[in-house]
Amino acid sequence: GTTLRAAAAEKGRYFGAAVATGKLSDSTYSTVLNREFNSVVAENEMKWDATEPQQGRFSYTGGDRLVSHARANGMSVRGHTLLWHAQQPSWAQGLSGSALRNAAINHVTQVATHFRGQIYAWDVVNEAFADGGSGGRRDSNLQRTGNDWIEAAFRAARAADPGAKLCYNDYNTDGINAKSTGIYNMVRDFRSRGVPIDCVGFQSHLGTTIPGDYQANLQRFADLGVDVQITELDVMTGGNQANIYGTVTRACLAVSRCTGITVWGVRDCDSWRGSDNALLFDCAGNKKAAYTSVLNALNAG
Ligand code: G3I
Repeated sequence: GTTLRAAAAEKGRYFGAAVATGKLSDSTYSTVLNREFNSVVAENEMKWDATEPQQGRFSYTGGDRLVSHARANGMSVRGHTLLWHAQQPSWAQGLSGSALRNAAINHVTQVATHFRGQIYAWDVVNEAFADGGSGGRRDSNLQRTGNDWIEAAFRAARAADPGAKLCYNDYNTDGINAKSTGIYNMVRDFRSRGVPIDCVGFQSHLGTTIPGDYQANLQRFADLGVDVQITELDVMTGGNQANIYGTVTRACLAVSRCTGITVWGVRDCDSWRGSDNALLFDCAGNKKAAYTSVLNALNAG
């Protein structure tokens, strides 16, 4: 393949990018997006603060625009994210207990119902595990409604959109460590009890190194019977950037249940990481060495 999307498709994978719909009118941006990517995710526009700014009043403008752009350009859509401790609307930040639990589950039901049939995979819950060595849950207003909030969210999402794959998504899970093992144990428990979970997203916001057990970590989750996806890939600039991008791509291709890779933005200037220049295209839309590394990895073998 001569583009990321074509090369990935030849391997039965997708190659996606996070999108801010306000940039779709920038022709440099949309030319690269439409040529190179066959999956999109909203960088912000499907989050709780964007979709339910006032309780019970839903706003789907940005999400609907992204879905229609995807449909017009042969792209699938990842949904990001139904529940997260961050980017909650202020009204939700002020709730607790059963009022918050009920509002959260209603949010999952309403949003997943609105987009029913249009989402390949939903990040049902994002970043619910703690950093560091505990392997446990992150403290949050959602966690304080009871440890079962995650499974309640997955059950509500399944009921609302039975065709979407339902994912748990997190960061600092790029090797075998206490945090990824905590998530692994949750997924294993969910699978054994019939809680509907289909996939795990590995954000892969990487620095200048990549854990040596990156592929093995993906594989151990796949061995639980779930798909895995690289969901928010970006890599700090430096001598290793192109190599690390290639290593991630090869790891996904080596794991049969790794169904696709998403980078967290199109050009370096679009990235939340600013001066890290963490993406595959420079600000003028030119391909970087990291791009060539990914494309060659997709085309190898
Ligand atoms: O839309 C408002 C705008 O109205 C306001 O004037 C402006 C002033 O600050 O803020 C705008 O909102 C910003 C939003 O991005 C849209 O640009 C928020 O302040 C800003 O916090 C928000 O940042 C996003 C961040 O998530 C929020 O936590 C980043 O764009 C987005 O890339 C980032 O994405 C997250 C994933 O969802 C989860 N994993 C980590 C990843 C990187 O942090």
